Amino acid sequence: MDLRVLLVALGSLAAALWAGLHLRTVLLGAVAFLFVADFLKRRRPKNYPPGPWGLPFIGSFYQLGFEQSHLKLQQLVKKYGNLLNLQFGDLHSVTITGLPLIKEVLVHQEQNFRNRPVTPMRERIFKKYGILMSSGQVWKEQRRFVLTTLRNFGLGKKTLEERIQEEARHLIEAIEEEKGQPFDPHFKINNAVSNIICSITFGERFEYQDGQFQELLKWLDEVTHKEVSMQCHLYGLFPRIMKFLPGTHQTLIRNWENLKLFIYRIIEEHKRDWNPAETRDFIDAYLNEIAKNSGNAVSSFHEENLICSTLDLFFAGTETTSTTLRWALLYLTVNPEIQVKVQAELDRVIGTSQQPRMADRERLPYTNAVIHEVQRMANIIPLNVPREVSADTTVAGYYLPKGTIIMTNLTALHRDPEEWATPDTFNPEHFLENGHFKKRESFLPFSIGKRACLGEQLARSELFIFFTSLMQKFTFRPPKNEKLSLQFRMGLTISPLKHRLCAIPRGDTAG
Ligand code: HEM
Ligand SMILES: *[C@@H]1O[C@H](CO)[C@@H](O)[C@H](O)[C@H]1NC(C)=O
Repeated sequence: MDLRVLLVALGSLAAALWAGLHLRTVLLGAVAFLFVADFLKRRRPKNYPPGPWGLPFIGSFYQLGFEQSHLKLQQLVKKYGNLLNLQFGDLHSVTITGLPLIKEVLVHQEQNFRNRPVTPMRERIFKKYGILMSSGQVWKEQRRFVLTTLRNFGLGKKTLEERIQEEARHLIEAIEEEKGQPFDPHFKINNAVSNIICSITFGERFEYQDGQFQELLKWLDEVTHKEVSMQCHLYGLFPRIMKFLPGTHQTLIRNWENLKLFIYRIIEEHKRDWNPAETRDFIDAYLNEIAKNSGNAVSSFHEENLICSTLDLFFAGTETTSTTLRWALLYLTVNPEIQVKVQAELDRVIGTSQQPRMADRERLPYTNAVIHEVQRMANIIPLNVPREVSADTTVAGYYLPKGTIIMTNLTALHRDPEEWATPDTFNPEHFLENGHFKKRESFLPFSIGKRACLGEQLARSELFIFFTSLMQKFTFRPPKNEKLSLQFRMGLTISPLKHRLCAIPRGDTAG
């Protein structure tokens, strides 16, 4: 047969086939093709950690429900083990349970788990910049610089401690104004805590009556809890579609843009009166660093990164510590007998006239144990901040390819019935032994390893000084006829539900 005849025959066959097809069939074929493609994308590599089969496109996410899926997950961990694979669309994630495996990943093999996954929302606001979610060279340079600069501006020095003490006095004054009447402590505490990181980064603190700054704190709070809304999950899966649709994700984007604009304006002010010879704060130090690297094309020090790293510090330095402090007041209000013991220890060791300092911590084992117990119970970052596998690796015999998202289950550590006498009850004895403070290995609110919380020391100073200063001055009580709830609001951090407290000045009761 010659070629021409063959071509004609094939052509008419194709034409006949085409004529016989309905549009519906074509569409069905296309859908089938998408499913096969999706299946191939979600196919587990050999020796991959086990987990439930996800639904196409949406993955295991669907099976878990959208919020408070704890119970369901616990069953899955029981069934599949301490490395559990969950799929979200075409993202492969592995949840790691138990201290030995968490240490394996975050400490012993940390060089393979040092990266962060970037969500479409993060990408949209920060690109690949900043410090919290950046990876590789950008992260390395930013982290080193931030650590050095924080140290230069007083981390671990007396000046910073004094700044926290002074801010605590402002907070006490603001709470005294409530005159023992019920009030919502949320934004006063946020403002006080935020002022510490603001004074390091921007060189200024903000009055609690400053309407503009209060608005900013509201955006920050909204960002923290809206990030887990349904629409934001959908934005994460289908950013190119969701981008055009209205919803919570649009509010979130607007809030982030507003926060960026705020930081941008402060940077512009700094540039106007910048004097390289006199470094006032973090932003000044960063401007110097940009000038130093101006000839270096691959340097990560440029103005866009300045905005992103500063915003990361502002966000990470505000939300976490103030949420923990709010939990502290709530737990002690709900457990008045523990509050009395803290106050008795403070009165005995420091007295009522002198303000607590970091050096007092050693002599306040009960109070120190209470702060640790607040962090254990509040457990504000339940699954740690996610990591991403940076090179194919093996953990506990399982293969984890590059790109796998890793979550480490801190809740499982903090509530492990093998580790804690009363895992689900607030009990400072967990951190005490014969009246002395006892460190616990299964307590990792700041995570561990080279990428652990960079603000741990700062946060611990803030928690200690704010908490003890407040306990020294006030007794916190529930408002009459109101029952306080320990239920939580889910978000980037786990925070208390909206509530009110009464702060009774202690002079009034203790005489
Ligand atoms: C009670 C308060 C705080 C808690 C519970 C907390 C917890 C955490 C956790 C769990 C991580 C992730 C670590 C990891 O991936 O292994 C983290 C990272 C981080 N935290 Fe904190 N944090 C607190 C306060 C602060 C403060 C006050 C600052 C301000 C300087 C801060 C700045 C950061 C930064 C910049 C990172 C990212 C570090 C990196 O990716 O290299 N944190 N924090
Ligand atoms: C983490 O551990 C807690 C406590 O065991 C459990 O309730 C939760 O479902 C776990 N989460 C994941 C994602 O494994």
